[in-house]
Amino acid sequence: MSKDSARAAIILAAGKGSRMKSELPKVLHPVNGKAMATFPIRRALALRCDPVVVVVGHQHERVRSELEAEFPEAPLRFVHQAEQLGTGHAVATARRALAGFDGRVLIVCGDVPLLTGPTLQRLMRAGRGRLVAGLSMRPEDPHGYGRVVRDESGQVMAVVEQKDLAPGQKEISECNAGIYDCDAKFLWKALRQLRTDNAQGEYYLTDIIAAAYEAGQPAAMIDAPEEDVMGVNDRVELARASRIQRQRVAIRHMQAGVTLLAPEATYIEEDVRIGADAVIEPNVALHGATRIGAGARIGFGSVIRSSRIAAGVEVKSYSVLEDAVVGENASVGPFARLRPGTRLGEGVRIGNFVETKNAQLGEGAKVNHLSYVGDAVVGKRSNVGAGTITCNYDGEKKHRTVLGDDVFVGSDSQLVAPVKVGDGAYVGAGSTVVEDVPAGALAVARSRQVVKEGWVASRKKKAAPAAKTARPAKAARTSRKKTKG
Ligand code: UD1
Ligand code: CA
Repeated sequence: MSKDSARAAIILAAGKGSRMKSELPKVLHPVNGKAMATFPIRRALALRCDPVVVVVGHQHERVRSELEAEFPEAPLRFVHQAEQLGTGHAVATARRALAGFDGRVLIVCGDVPLLTGPTLQRLMRAGRGRLVAGLSMRPEDPHGYGRVVRDESGQVMAVVEQKDLAPGQKEISECNAGIYDCDAKFLWKALRQLRTDNAQGEYYLTDIIAAAYEAGQPAAMIDAPEEDVMGVNDRVELARASRIQRQRVAIRHMQAGVTLLAPEATYIEEDVRIGADAVIEPNVALHGATRIGAGARIGFGSVIRSSRIAAGVEVKSYSVLEDAVVGENASVGPFARLRPGTRLGEGVRIGNFVETKNAQLGEGAKVNHLSYVGDAVVGKRSNVGAGTITCNYDGEKKHRTVLGDDVFVGSDSQLVAPVKVGDGAYVGAGSTVVEDVPAGALAVARSRQVVKEGWVASRKKKAAPAAKTARPAKAARTSRKKTKG
């Protein structure tokens, strides 16, 4: 079978998935952060299937555009099954995208996200030299699945759907997983012979199994772990699939040298990459294509989305980062919020209750407490004091604040953008800076302190008569309360 090398795949993703009770098509529901259908597609691509034909129907344009965006370079082809007349009809619809192809065809449902490479490879080995091979499973409750019917000698005769089972067949525990590897020529021929004379009036793909038996070359059906081939039909199964997938991701990271203090309480999406010796504390969520460098530590309850965290960084508890870049050995948080466009250089320190947005902080810069730094550049080693605010928005437009290197901004200052503070300049605490400050200068922009000697005692004297009459009434109220309690 030299044709074994040419391999195409068909992914069935036309159904609505009514049991999800959702506006979103079932195959686009995320499993650990990625649309369900991307999982079997990625598997098929990893096995060098070319093309991978995706059968779409319900909300086909949306499904197509989301999947295309996920695999921009891949040999994906989409075919539209306007009416869902059954799995056999769906595969027949895919045929027009495979004109002239006569190798092996892998068929997978779009709602089987947990399928693994090794299981598919076992399937393909079983298919070698056969018209068709399929995966089977033995779930605790086989109700609803097609059953594998074997003859006296153990050969696979047919797959019979739940609704078409004869009384004696209901006890069969071997169930069809709906995943096949078959010879293309045989497939097209068998599909042409499908009929709808069954309980559901559908074109059943499963009837190709009986066709192989009739051709004298029975299918191989091989057992797969139920966890690998489970289908997702409702949100309970969706949660289960997500949990299993999350566990797998956690194990992959731990085996690569990452410490997860509580793997079961950590949410790490598919595309996240983490360097060795990084420590991820409990309740951390890492989304999108986040990268965490070697030896970094991500503190309890932090949420990081699409960000790059360099080696040795410490993100302390309850920090929230999005589209941020954090340089080596920087320290962030606790309770920091780095919004999109934040770029922190090496060794930068961002402390508690600091918010940054579209802000570039040079090596060693510090913003340690209660500040907002937006649309700003902060030079190397500059120190932004507690409570400093860049006033970047004038009600219509955003403006930039630029601080040079070695700048010192005293606490509770406002920098009203657009404004520049030159290298080495100082801003006195409590200043409202509206004009540029030259390098090396001190800017103080606040009113002078006034001291009135003896002022407190003179005020008390004036207030004394009024306080005398008020006091007994208050005491009476308090004592009444006390006797009650
Ligand atoms: C199918 C199998 C059953 C197997 C089960 C495993 C058939 C007839 N039955 O049943 O033996 O035990 O999977 O999960 O194949 N789809 C289309 N177009 C259609 C119909 C379905 O694209 O016209 C897609 C669906 O979107 C879904 C997949 O095919 O992704 C499976 O269809 P579904 O109706 O769920 O088949 P089951 O009844 O689960
Ligand atoms: Ca199904």
